[in-house]
Amino acid sequence: MNAPILQVRNIESFYGPIMAIRGVSLDVHEGKIVSILGANGAGKTTLMKTISGVMDPEKGTITFDGGDIQGWEPHKVVQRGVVHIPEGREVFPLLTVDENLSLGAYTRKDKDQIEQDRELVFRYFPVLKSRRSQEAGTLSGGQQQMLAIGRGLMARPRIMLLDEPSLGLSPLLVQEIFGILKRLNEEQNMTMLLVEQNANAALELAHHGYVMEVGRIVMDGAADALLQSEDIQSFYLGKQEEGARESRRWKRKKTWR
Ligand SMILES: Nc1ncnc2c1ncn2[C@@H]1O[C@H](COP(=O)(O)OP(=O)(O)O)[C@@H](O)[C@H]1O
Ligand SMILES: [Mg+2]
Repeated sequence: MNAPILQVRNIESFYGPIMAIRGVSLDVHEGKIVSILGANGAGKTTLMKTISGVMDPEKGTITFDGGDIQGWEPHKVVQRGVVHIPEGREVFPLLTVDENLSLGAYTRKDKDQIEQDRELVFRYFPVLKSRRSQEAGTLSGGQQQMLAIGRGLMARPRIMLLDEPSLGLSPLLVQEIFGILKRLNEEQNMTMLLVEQNANAALELAHHGYVMEVGRIVMDGAADALLQSEDIQSFYLGKQEEGARESRRWKRKKTWR
């Protein structure tokens, strides 16, 4: 296989004295979707921020397309083609859909291609075209997530870093958005690094998966193998069982009163 387009090696990242990323290494090959799974607080967002240059790692290297990018300013990382779509779909609520999309292209000067890319965004997200003059703050949660992804596409990514695009969305919307991500991967050969708590949806979309726990990678493998893995199933189902036990305990308590 070719060399990975993104290679992360032994990254350590801190918030003050707190070590949030404890020696993470991972590979993403061109044209693939790689998922990072893990519970709340595992360090997924911190890892994404470190790759996109929002945070600097204390140690380790991040190599993209053969060159090191760790410690670079975020706008330089974007120009290189590494585009971060942050958690919580941070669109500019008072700007229109079109203005938000234009901001995604702020590092670019190729006007004609920018307009072609806007049409590409509208091809994948037709609802954004019909609402292009509307203020982003008036869109639904799902539409705002679409706009956040569309704005990322306007930067001409060679890899998209997607941080929990399913957060707060209904299962139906998650299915719709993940379907569009799958088409972008297949039709545009878009490479993606996708962070998710929604393990099943993410592994169904991805080719490869990594599992993070307290700042470390604890497991990785082909996505279909992880989907079958008893460890993954018992981890996620285990949590559900814990919830069920909790509610049974609660019911017992109530009958005592
Ligand atoms: N701004 C911050 N300051 C201090 N600690 C933080 C900050 N953001 C996150 N953390 C801590 O870093 C760890 C990893 O957080 P995060 O990367 O947001 O996890 P995830 O995205 O997997 O939920 C957590 O223990 C969290 O409390
Ligand atoms: Mg997070």
